[in-house]
Amino acid sequence: MTKNPKLLSWVEQVTAMCQPDEVHWCDGSQAEYDEMIHLMLAGGTAQKLDERKRPNSYLIRSDPADVARVEDRTFICSVKEEDAGPTNNWHEPEDMKATLTKLFTGSMKGRTLYVIPFSMGPVGSPIAHIGVQISDSPYVVTNMRIMTRIGEKVLDTLGDGAFVPCLHSVGAPLAKGQKDVPWPCNADNKYIVHFPETREIWSFGSGYGGNALLGKKCFALRIASAMARDEGWLAEHMLILKMTSPEGVSRYVCGAFPSACGKTNLAMLNPTIEGWKVETIGDDIAWMKFGDDGRLYAINPEAGFFGVAPGTSMQSNPNAMLALRENSLFTNCALTPDGDVWWEEMTEAIPPRLVNWLGHDWEPLAEAKAAHPNARFTTPASQCPVIAPEWEDPKGVPISAILFGGRRAAVVPLVYEARDWRHGTFLGSIMGSEKTAAATGKLGVLRRDPMAMLPFCGYNMADYWAHWLRIGERAGARLPKIYTVNWFRKSPGGDFLWPGYGENSRVLKWVFERCEGSVKAVETPIGDLPAERDLDLSGLDIAPEDLRELLRVDIDDWLAEARGIRRYYDRFGGRVPQALRDELAALEERLWAARD
Ligand code: OXD
Ligand code: MN
Repeated sequence: MTKNPKLLSWVEQVTAMCQPDEVHWCDGSQAEYDEMIHLMLAGGTAQKLDERKRPNSYLIRSDPADVARVEDRTFICSVKEEDAGPTNNWHEPEDMKATLTKLFTGSMKGRTLYVIPFSMGPVGSPIAHIGVQISDSPYVVTNMRIMTRIGEKVLDTLGDGAFVPCLHSVGAPLAKGQKDVPWPCNADNKYIVHFPETREIWSFGSGYGGNALLGKKCFALRIASAMARDEGWLAEHMLILKMTSPEGVSRYVCGAFPSACGKTNLAMLNPTIEGWKVETIGDDIAWMKFGDDGRLYAINPEAGFFGVAPGTSMQSNPNAMLALRENSLFTNCALTPDGDVWWEEMTEAIPPRLVNWLGHDWEPLAEAKAAHPNARFTTPASQCPVIAPEWEDPKGVPISAILFGGRRAAVVPLVYEARDWRHGTFLGSIMGSEKTAAATGKLGVLRRDPMAMLPFCGYNMADYWAHWLRIGERAGARLPKIYTVNWFRKSPGGDFLWPGYGENSRVLKWVFERCEGSVKAVETPIGDLPAERDLDLSGLDIAPEDLRELLRVDIDDWLAEARGIRRYYDRFGGRVPQALRDELAALEERLWAARD
């Protein structure tokens, strides 16, 4: 049991405010997990999957009004509005606290308050940080046990130290004798609130995913990004992978990609090039701190994968499919007649009969999807067949390269390298992803998503860019190389030019060889590209004109892109670092020079 005075008094205060029937301190044991599962089974929240099909696994259905992160109900409550910046919802902190205090008062009546001490990162790692979540949801307790390290051992490591308090309630108190519903929530009154200066999180009304598992987006990205700014490190929305050459040399690469760009697939890819190996360290978040040697060392602060199920298959991501064969939770997936889960694209043949995510009978001719498009699996990272043996190394892994990627049908080539860290920061700041009307191949709207942090940066995005620049100026820093990648470029006819998935290992190989210094690059106005002959395309059937198009830098397209970047920067006014304005001007100058 803890003697941490701050923790004890916080739990006491919250208990007085929320008025639960009981308080339970989570020890993180299997017996406790089993008890939470038992509560969910008894309450109709969960059902057990067939033990022969999917051992020790459960299907959970949420309320249809509580199925995804709610960005419009997510707030950054810094003291000054300009410190949240134009890309965040801001609210004045005192006023927000008053609103929340009213909502939380009595919000846990009829329920148990769970205290969940958790470590983001291997317990005791110098890169890790500790949080304590208070929640009234057994679903949250079970998911937090898979996604983070929880319980007694965390309290022992915490001692009298600092932790991030993460307060969560589903916002559905029960009157005396009132029967609970399977998925309690407060559909019309959701608040996902961050106080970056005091490093606190208050989340009300939702029990789902990133709204409720507060270690993930709320702590490990929004609050941690503010901590990282103050303390000189990086908290990023990035996968971490390990790549090993046929000669046995290993390098570690981080990659930032917006949602729906195949980040989890890339983190676990099976390379298609002879003799190369890729292993996984993390699929969503990277925390990086400087080592004594001036290199950035990264840990995966999470312990599990909370992945989007639809689209995951033995073709798109066999290693994820193998990871979730057992000991997993499935939320809002469909159910097969023989007691297993199913989702769109899981198998080529669609099962003739299913129960959909709403619990209704479903047939393949039905218009609506069987699984919710944001249906999720929660599975321990240790079950991934290609998890790297050092994935829990407390000192982290030294990062050689950082990838920035988005979904761009045109303009952005398959891969190019930044000239230096400052240029790389510029490349991160101009990242974006666009939707194409798939049938016609017509270009859709481009959403700029700098460093894939748009919904996750806990302070002013322009100040975040300044922080990246400061990281690059640290004395003695030996920084990773930075790349932009784009797997999604299309031909004028609207077909994808690059096969993606395991074939992305060919691009990773070029990145690896650049880090080794064993291959030259071709200088262009936007950055350094591979020479066609330096991309290993052995065994890949790709037309020479497609390869040329994949690597083409169109000067007029890029001049138009630069105008778009300027308009985007103008949203942040005078807070955009001068170094980035200079990078933009230098890019335009190089483009004009190439045009003349
Ligand atoms: C996620 C996301 O759930 O980025 O990881 O939305
Ligand atoms: Mn993510």
